[in-house]
Amino acid sequence: MTPEIKIFADPIQVAREAAVEFVRLAEFAVQERGLCSVALAGGSTPKSLYSLLADDESLRQTIPWNKLHFFWGDERHVAPDDKDSNYRMAYEAMLSKVPVPSSNVHRIRGEEPDAQKAADAYEQELQSFYQLEPERLPRFDLVLLGMGPDGHTASLFPGTTALNETKRLVAATWVEKFKTYRITMTLPVLNNAANVIFLVCGAEKTEVLRTVLKEEGAAQYPAQLVRPFAGRLLWLLDESAAGESR
Ligand code: 6PG
Repeated sequence: MTPEIKIFADPIQVAREAAVEFVRLAEFAVQERGLCSVALAGGSTPKSLYSLLADDESLRQTIPWNKLHFFWGDERHVAPDDKDSNYRMAYEAMLSKVPVPSSNVHRIRGEEPDAQKAADAYEQELQSFYQLEPERLPRFDLVLLGMGPDGHTASLFPGTTALNETKRLVAATWVEKFKTYRITMTLPVLNNAANVIFLVCGAEKTEVLRTVLKEEGAAQYPAQLVRPFAGRLLWLLDESAAGESR
């Protein structure tokens, strides 16, 4: 499917549109399948969305929280109470304020000293949750993603071996620029989602985003490799990231 691109004045408007999409997709998935599986993005941009879903009364009351299952597209190699933890960010902004059963929160065990073991354990959690046959892929109802100024998404960074993973669902990847391991879902999983929504804000991403959104040429950046096989791809941008100053 051709990617959809929607541009908004500022990050708050981006978050509000993302919240509308979230509610619509959650209601649809629960109506169709009795549950909704979401892979949350880390970083800072999605925090406004998570806070909105939890703090806005009309939104919070609409969402069938007990039917939602939350996963993470990636996690830093840190404990869940670490300031850099993607789990902690989502917990503080949203999960601590809404009636999601703890058994529906499937965090990546970033505290595991061996990042590969953390990746293996998360892969098993996905296989168990989706009751996957070998070689089968999980299909998330919604994958939320951000994009860094270098075109990375989740923890799929330029030049890393995780980009070439075609079999594993979850990879542990050394990120030289941060001198640390990350744990990340792989492209086959991201590209098997029913809906992928990128939230991208900020002028520091404009140049890379311009290339990423071009439909031509070989992919230069990891974010360009996210093309759902049979799913919807939606980019929610603020004017700064889109390079538009109205
Ligand atoms: C992470 C995210 C990462 C993030 C981008 C954009 O663990 O940091 O998964 O891929 O989405 O780095 O981050 P910002 O939203 O903070 O710009």
